[in-house]
Amino acid sequence: MYNSRISGLGFYVPDNVVTNEDLSKLMDTNDAWIQERTGIKERRHVVKGKDTTTIMGVKAAKIAIERAGIDKDDIDFIVFATLSPDYYFPGAGVLVQRDLDIKTVGALDVRNQCSGFVYAISIADQYIKSGMYKNILVIGSELHSGGLDFTTRGRGVSVIFGDGAGAAILTREEDPKKGILSTHLHSEGQYAEELSLLAPGIGHRWVSDILKDNDPDDVSYYPYMNGQLVFKNAVVRFSEVIMEGLKKNKLDVKDIDMLIPHQANLRISQFIQRKFGLSDDQVYNNIMNYGNTTAASIPIALTEAWEKDRIKEGDLVVLAAFGSGFTWGSVIMRW
Ligand code: COA
Repeated sequence: MYNSRISGLGFYVPDNVVTNEDLSKLMDTNDAWIQERTGIKERRHVVKGKDTTTIMGVKAAKIAIERAGIDKDDIDFIVFATLSPDYYFPGAGVLVQRDLDIKTVGALDVRNQCSGFVYAISIADQYIKSGMYKNILVIGSELHSGGLDFTTRGRGVSVIFGDGAGAAILTREEDPKKGILSTHLHSEGQYAEELSLLAPGIGHRWVSDILKDNDPDDVSYYPYMNGQLVFKNAVVRFSEVIMEGLKKNKLDVKDIDMLIPHQANLRISQFIQRKFGLSDDQVYNNIMNYGNTTAASIPIALTEAWEKDRIKEGDLVVLAAFGSGFTWGSVIMRW
């Protein structure tokens, strides 16, 4: 049995910066409310027609491939995590295969929203551990701005989310003490609708109904979030799943060199940091600059932390995520 390790990282965010002040011109909101509740100062939005979820994912992937020191044709498999694919089907993974012009390797899409990248890493890790594949391209990418309600009606959700992509190359590692030590995945479907986007799910309404109604007040195409329920569950599940991973590896909170929490909300990250008694050096947050980029948030934060030399060889790095489903998970790795 092999281990897998991250051998290359990259991220891409659109140039277009949207501040809280910019949003307050579109809806009844203000910088103080957004910063106090979420920590977000600004986020990036794509320029319509320029970037898509796939295009951003490909840009991040090219950087990760180069940094891994491999050729695109060394990639054996693609895993793409997103809740905002270019098309309802096919998934974004095959579009990456096409756009990178990679030989006909398998491409899998993961639909686990904010936990998507952690789920994607876990899947890739199993393929490498089993010996089936050697190099896997894992992408998390989101284009939120094209699907949010930027009127006062949607302000509880639309101020939080931003666009961007992050990518990692997972590579076979022969040393069992290095790389990904374990991954831990959970779900609780009883809360499925508490953080959801119901349309265009065929179980919700048939396309013929939607076309017939053509109702401007139909909000089922916009995300819905029960913010307080999400917050309460997130702080509990983040803590649980980090501890589960540490215990599995006979490690302790004090062993963590770098915790990269999914950038859901700065208040959630700060709660976890306080609970575990971690210093600012042991946690990386960048939600202030990018908002919540869902499946892209962990790979963007991980790449930034690595670029800033905040992660060094031998460090214990922990990834943890919580989101729609509800789903949550963690990754414990030795860098
Ligand atoms: N600007 C100004 N006011 C806003 C607003 C905005 N963008 N969004 C909501 N409000 C108002 C509400 O209308 C409400 O007004 P009311 O009291 O007159 O009815 C008030 O602010 C409080 O709303 P509420 O939803 O109770 O706020 P909150 O304290 O729960 O904060 C979140 C909202 C979304 C910031 C918070 O619940 C949260 O962070 N939840 C977790 C979200 C998350 O992590 N999501 C990602 C999933 S992984």
